Amino acid sequence: MAGLTEQVFIKLQLLSIWFVHLPITQKLSIVVIAPLIFNILYQLLYSLRKDRAPLVFYWIPWIGSAVEYGTDPYGFFRRNQEKYGDVFSFVLLGRVMTVCLGPKGHEFVFNAKLNDVSAEQAYTHLTTPVFGKGVIYDCPNHRLMDQKKFVKGALSVESFKKYVPLIAEEVEKYFQTGSYFKLSENKHGIANIMVTQPELTIFTASRSLLGKQMREKLNTDFAYLYSDLDKGFTPINFVFSNLPLPNYKKRDYAQKTISNTYMELIKERRANNDIQDRDLIDALMKSSTYKDGVKMTDQEIANLLIGVLMGGQHTSAATSAWMILHLAERPDLQQELFEEQMRASDNGSKPLTYEVMQNNMPLLNQTIKETLRMHHPLHSLFRKVTRDLHFPNTSYVIPKGYHVLVSPGYTQLQDTFFPNAKKFDPHRWDSDAVSSYATGEKVDYGFGAISKGVSSPYLPFGGGRHRCIGEHFAYCQLGVIMSIYVRTFKWKFPKSMNGVPEPDFQSMVTLPKPPCEVEWELRETYDGPILTA
Ligand code: HEM
Ligand SMILES: *[C@@H]1O[C@H](CO)[C@@H](O)[C@H](O)[C@H]1NC(C)=O
Ligand SMILES: *[C@@H]1O[C@H](CO)[C@@H](O)[C@H](O)[C@H]1NC(C)=O
Ligand SMILES: *[C@@H]1O[C@H](CO)[C@@H](O)[C@H](O)[C@H]1NC(C)=O
Repeated sequence: MAGLTEQVFIKLQLLSIWFVHLPITQKLSIVVIAPLIFNILYQLLYSLRKDRAPLVFYWIPWIGSAVEYGTDPYGFFRRNQEKYGDVFSFVLLGRVMTVCLGPKGHEFVFNAKLNDVSAEQAYTHLTTPVFGKGVIYDCPNHRLMDQKKFVKGALSVESFKKYVPLIAEEVEKYFQTGSYFKLSENKHGIANIMVTQPELTIFTASRSLLGKQMREKLNTDFAYLYSDLDKGFTPINFVFSNLPLPNYKKRDYAQKTISNTYMELIKERRANNDIQDRDLIDALMKSSTYKDGVKMTDQEIANLLIGVLMGGQHTSAATSAWMILHLAERPDLQQELFEEQMRASDNGSKPLTYEVMQNNMPLLNQTIKETLRMHHPLHSLFRKVTRDLHFPNTSYVIPKGYHVLVSPGYTQLQDTFFPNAKKFDPHRWDSDAVSSYATGEKVDYGFGAISKGVSSPYLPFGGGRHRCIGEHFAYCQLGVIMSIYVRTFKWKFPKSMNGVPEPDFQSMVTLPKPPCEVEWELRETYDGPILTA
């Protein structure tokens, strides 16, 4: 053995002498090419392992399949699903991601055991600099479960009944004064949906969840802070969550200033003994003591407020934008929705309330549901694997340190589950056949009972312990916004638009690629703001 080591050592020495005497250009090409060759050899050996899911081939170490995945994740999934089946891995910026497609993938990832996977390790780089410390993914999972329970205090049917008129008032005000509509002056115009929908979303969410005072701040320079914070909420954080650059400094300053403002309001309400049932701030002031007796600090409550608002902002704004864009090429659906509004309100003489929306507007509901089917705002959801995981009915083990990736948004676009899946058709939900996938069994992770099975092909709000708690708020907010849209306007694409835009997968949520303009005109029947209770 000693002899062999010596021989190898001598060979290496000769090799290095040879290398040192090469001209610089050849040296450089070896330095560049050697890792590439090593990378290819590594992948060859890896592909022989029966206990590993197939690895998508890549040329450049570390970068891996980042470009193909990042620009068109669904195309990337489809091509590799055809080659490898529902389970395969790829390299993404130094991480190995194991993609788990289809309903079995949903079940595997969303219902994975707490000790096997971690959402906080997968997401904390993205969220913690934006939300702040001690909440959501900057705390152990049992804290998150309690935080979700606290937030749900402001997301009850009783709260929604109060929110509907507040949201409606914001929407009406926006149509009267917002620069793309200004109904006080205009009867038609062109609106940029990628400006109007984020604005409507933040105005309505702030008014309902944070109260009048915080909503009014958005009419001041304070709004720029939200914009700075928002710009800091980008997938770049996964790679660089902190750099000494101006936009990171602005993000951190915005986080500090906004959370301080929320804390001042909390202190003010506490000092005045003014804690009621108005909004999420009241709800958290009443209920934010963890199961073990530890109380959330005011800073943590403020950070949780930021996290919840952020969680709802992009998802809801994207959804209403896509909905308006699809309806722009469907005057038939606009008319049907308008007729539903008229039936539900006795031609506008009955106020818009939460009950009316829940009970008498099934098509509106189905239109939201169909928009979320075609445009899941989050194309990929991740967990970091913390214990070797066997994928059922395969020979694959996903080792600790890998990530698992699940994509209900991809499943929701497959013809096998949704015939003619590329067609926007709210009426596909008329008989609601898909709800039969739910087992009916329930489970409670600490924030209320949710469906136990997560193998439905339709999961816009995820499933399991990380399931969304904002579903009913989102339906309420989107329902009011869209009710008023269809009662007030008819709209279509201007000549400059070429149908519903393609999705842009590179932003935080899947947004329509600009330009996103619609040409609106006031309905002949329009006679001023709608009635609210
Ligand atoms: C159309 C609107 C929305 C969609 C499509 C949506 C989607 C989702 C999805 C898919 C998840 C699961 C993430 C994962 O498993 O990794 C989630 C979690 C969550 N969402 Fe939403 N969401 C929406 C609106 C909202 C709103 C309005 C709020 C707050 C009021 C909210 C708050 C949350 C929270 C707190 C979580 C829990 C995160 C966790 O437990 O890890 N969402 N949402
Ligand atoms: C609403 O208006 C339509 C058409 O003008 C009319 O046929 C209908 O009877 C009205 N319904 C109510 C409840 O007023
Ligand atoms: C509308 O959808 C929401 C959320 O999925 C659901 O809770 C509600 O029952 C639906 N309402 C109607 C009228 O279908
Ligand atoms: C594994 O295969 C068995 C037999 O085909 C089947 O009954 C079971 O549902 C499968 N489990 C999963 C998670 O795919």
